[in-house]
Amino acid sequence: MWWKNSIIYEIFPRSFKDSNGDGIGDIQGIISKLDYLKDLGVDAIWLCPVYPSPNNDSGYDVSDYYDIWDELGTMEDIEKLIVEMHKRDMKLIMELVANHTSDEHEWFIESRKSKDNPYRDYYIWRPGKDGKEPNNWLSAKLGGSVWTYDDNTDEYYLHLYSSKQPDLNWENLKVRQEVYNIMRFWFDKGVDGFRMDVINKIAKAPGLPDVERKEGDKRKYLPCEEYYENYPKVHDYLKEMNREVLSKYENKLAMGQTSGVTPEQAYLYTGEDRGELNLFLQFEHIDIDRGSNNKKLPFNALEFKKSLAKWQTAMDGKLWNTLFFGSHDTSRPVSHYGNDKKYRVESAKMLATILFTLKGTPIIYQGEEIGMTNVRFESIEDYRDIRTHNVYRERYLEGGEKLEDVMQDIWELSRDNARTPMQWDDSENAGFTKGKPWIKPNPNYKEINVQKSLDDSNSILHYYKEIIKLRKSNEVLLYGDFRLIFEDDPNIFAYFRELNKKKVLVITNFSDKDIEINLSREIRKIDNFKLLISNYEVNEANIESIKLKPFEARVYEFGV
Ligand code: GLC
Ligand code: CA
Repeated sequence: MWWKNSIIYEIFPRSFKDSNGDGIGDIQGIISKLDYLKDLGVDAIWLCPVYPSPNNDSGYDVSDYYDIWDELGTMEDIEKLIVEMHKRDMKLIMELVANHTSDEHEWFIESRKSKDNPYRDYYIWRPGKDGKEPNNWLSAKLGGSVWTYDDNTDEYYLHLYSSKQPDLNWENLKVRQEVYNIMRFWFDKGVDGFRMDVINKIAKAPGLPDVERKEGDKRKYLPCEEYYENYPKVHDYLKEMNREVLSKYENKLAMGQTSGVTPEQAYLYTGEDRGELNLFLQFEHIDIDRGSNNKKLPFNALEFKKSLAKWQTAMDGKLWNTLFFGSHDTSRPVSHYGNDKKYRVESAKMLATILFTLKGTPIIYQGEEIGMTNVRFESIEDYRDIRTHNVYRERYLEGGEKLEDVMQDIWELSRDNARTPMQWDDSENAGFTKGKPWIKPNPNYKEINVQKSLDDSNSILHYYKEIIKLRKSNEVLLYGDFRLIFEDDPNIFAYFRELNKKKVLVITNFSDKDIEINLSREIRKIDNFKLLISNYEVNEANIESIKLKPFEARVYEFGV
């Protein structure tokens, strides 16, 4: 199972590297950077959608699963990418967006034509109820109803996301077979796995019942996750998918995006004896400071570490986690959890220390390895993300909230924070494109870029390379058990990893203050240790009592 000791790197192709000057990152651009990624220590790339799409939701609205989006390249390009990656002993993970399609997919174009169209049942159509939507479900991510009325047939169709992303009807065997065919097509081309977009939402509660309204609740639409998220029936579908497709191939990875899972549910998806998926992506630590409708709540480092620790402990022996702090759906980790001003370098390295010394498969999101930060566009016009525009419309234009409050949350949480162009060098547009970029680069690219990071031996990038090497060569870091210490300390995240009597100790200071800690209770025999890596110079000769600087991180090995 190659994914257990691999480092995955997520690429949002539109923003990675433009090869032909049209301002849009593309597959050839990725090919030109494979050596950079290999050198970083990356084993696999997870590529966000590259299929033809009307671009309502950055390609998560697919209109053809058997082709490549012309803005991003051609079928030859992707074949070349596969060859070039395999030459370098790297794996390619593509996206399977199978909960929904674009409304411009030919299945939906057919489906909406008439009630007796052969494709009608590919989607979820219902007549209205008392002149209103078929039920009161709220679209969790976009607000509003999950239903859109289509006057062509006088019925509504269901979409958990935007109205341009109608949900497929997984109850229909034909739909499932279509999905399995898509998987076979890409596997046969040499793709090594799929990241399965919102795969835990494909099964909806039978009858699509109304959510019960609590007394006094005046909201028009109500949150309804329990009717479609991790609904038990999903496991029948995934078992069938595994039987029909995954089990027929060797070494293919199925990584499911499974928001809202408990460890028990994660096991149901990925337990080795379950015959479903291999890896899951859970978001508990990402969601702790996100309120409804993209409201930023205060960040609580203690809660954050407790969540990470909970998943580490839950894994013991039966689960294999993925580890990530950022993605194309989040803000930039160094801005969110660290300090992107005075301690940008230190805090980015501290976060990396955690990412690569916990148990699980680490995922780097593009640009994180050079400490790219959140962006602050003054005008909403400069934002491209559909979710950001929805927040602006609902909370400011329609909801009457103060503009400055809404913008503040957008600056902190917008997905475009992660989607500004990759910063390659200090030339115009960060070396991302010779044309006009589809989204403005972060103006800090003159300071923060790959070229500068390569030239500076003290850079975040070099730290990533070093700690990735360390992780790959250290069995304790790969497979050791996890034990949290200083459990209730809000600033210190520290833990042991242990395997066959070998121990590694990770100590990080999650704050911008100096902190002194005493380890004498944790370590009885303290003479036998070695520092493996740190983000500051370490002078202490003993480690009974140590003074940690802001965002300091150290990794020690014992029993050497
Ligand atoms: C997932 C993707 C996100 C997309 C949504 C709908 O959450 O990560 O980018 O908007 O699914 O496909
Ligand atoms: Ca291009």
